[in-house]
Amino acid sequence: MKAEPPGGAQANNIVAPTEEAISRAVELLRAGEVVGMPTETVYGLAGDGLNPAALARIFETKHRPLFDPLILHFADMAAAFDVAAQIPTVARELAQRFWPGPLTIVLRKRDIVPDLATSGLPNVAIRVPAHPVAQALLRAFGGGPLAAPSANRFGRISPTDAQAVHIELGQSIPLILDGGACAVGLESSVLYVAESPPVLLRAGGIPLEEIEAITGPVRHGAPVEDRPLAPGQLKSHYAPRKPLELVEDAANIPSRADVGWLAFGAVSRKFAGVIENVSPGSDLREAASHFFRAMRALDDNPRVSELYAAKFPAHGLGLAINERLERAAG
Ligand code: TXA
Ligand code: MG
Repeated sequence: MKAEPPGGAQANNIVAPTEEAISRAVELLRAGEVVGMPTETVYGLAGDGLNPAALARIFETKHRPLFDPLILHFADMAAAFDVAAQIPTVARELAQRFWPGPLTIVLRKRDIVPDLATSGLPNVAIRVPAHPVAQALLRAFGGGPLAAPSANRFGRISPTDAQAVHIELGQSIPLILDGGACAVGLESSVLYVAESPPVLLRAGGIPLEEIEAITGPVRHGAPVEDRPLAPGQLKSHYAPRKPLELVEDAANIPSRADVGWLAFGAVSRKFAGVIENVSPGSDLREAASHFFRAMRALDDNPRVSELYAAKFPAHGLGLAINERLERAAG
């Protein structure tokens, strides 16, 4: 009999990322199974990106609608561009600057990419993650591709550590590679480059200013050409179970015992509720790395019945945080 950890949850599918564990993960992936994979942004639910049965398994495990396409992950740029039918110059420049790292590029796909990965769109989303465990897994898997959405149930808060993956999906996946807490903490920026100027489909781990330094001004929203469904068009997302109120000014957050405040910067006022401060020193990168963990902590705190946050400064990673807060409040 295996001992059960306190609470009865079987956490023994979380494993240290040893060579043996990576080999086991590859075996599972080759068999069409899905595994929890750490990346520098958030944890992914990885499956063989060229195997429709594995892709179906990902959608089923997350309860994700089939019209929301997946990102394909690769060990390096050469492998990633190998699934593209056309590679605009700007895509190469972006890849050289930001890969490995939290940028996803959307461009025309080749026929080898299954329709299930792209929800039938003519474009595929590709990314080269920087996390050493993701890199090790991808190399052991022949360079990729691994399709990997964030490892949460659809619409919920993204997981930034192995335990959070276990809480979200643990019962339904055989293996979670433990790569520690995610350094970036927000999902990748998603940029559509099949038209010019490029279109930012999702603000994310690379500040917009840094992207625009390479591309020039980008558009926001949906591509003109074929209007693929962008993540921003799904209204309720990143949602805690408890209601979240987003305010302009933190001074308006009510000081009640049952209020959970997701705070940023120094807090000087008296507050009767529960505070999770993502960066007392007002550092947006630090805030991003703690953002989902803090939201999850407030959501799980039995003292808290309502969450509050004030809008973050509208620059750098503050834009990506605000986008998530707006959708979590939506
Ligand atoms: O940081 C990340 O990107 C994480 C880690 C695990 O790599 N992954 C992630 O995947 O956030 P996911 O599935 O939760 O979000 C990917 C978003 C989707 O909402 C989808 O709409 C968009 O990227 N996307 C994927 N393929 C697309 C395509 N062909 N056209 C337009 N948008 C696409
Ligand atoms: Mg997601």
